Amino acid sequence: MTIEVLKTNYEDLPIRAGVERKDRKMLAELMGQALASTYVLYHKTHAFHWNVTGPLFYSVHKLTDDQYNDLAEAIDDIAERIRAIGVVAPTGLKRYIKESRVDDYTDVDDAVAMVLQLGKDHQEVAAQLREAVKEAEKVDDVYTADLLTARIGAHEEASWMLNSLIVQ
Ligand SMILES: [Fe+2]
Repeated sequence: MTIEVLKTNYEDLPIRAGVERKDRKMLAELMGQALASTYVLYHKTHAFHWNVTGPLFYSVHKLTDDQYNDLAEAIDDIAERIRAIGVVAPTGLKRYIKESRVDDYTDVDDAVAMVLQLGKDHQEVAAQLREAVKEAEKVDDVYTADLLTARIGAHEEASWMLNSLIVQ
């Protein structure tokens, strides 16, 4: 049984869960897309953390430190939830960039523009997660709904904190 459970082909995975296989596959796809967005945002947050300059340097450098650590944990939690419902976690940076709702990093040299972009990206991921939560609730996957709902809160908080740095 243990060996069966470790198989990475969900078609063969004899998982007995309250959620139907087709619904688990659908949720895994939505979580995979959320994982892609989270991964791209993680990288962008790190990039701005490294390269920010100017009067906002310290505030942005410190805040993005907290935020990329939170995103790193979220990446792991979402990927492991995909595994827990019997599906292979999507991998590959090209795939993430393709599936992400957040645009990949491009050069930005102004701290305010960095903050605005990250704030908008967090809202975008929150909106994406809200759609996934609705689907998880429809098929009664309460754990997935709970995990993703918590992530909505984290993204909205991140967006608030970023925007608060630049309010005049
Ligand atoms: Fe750092």
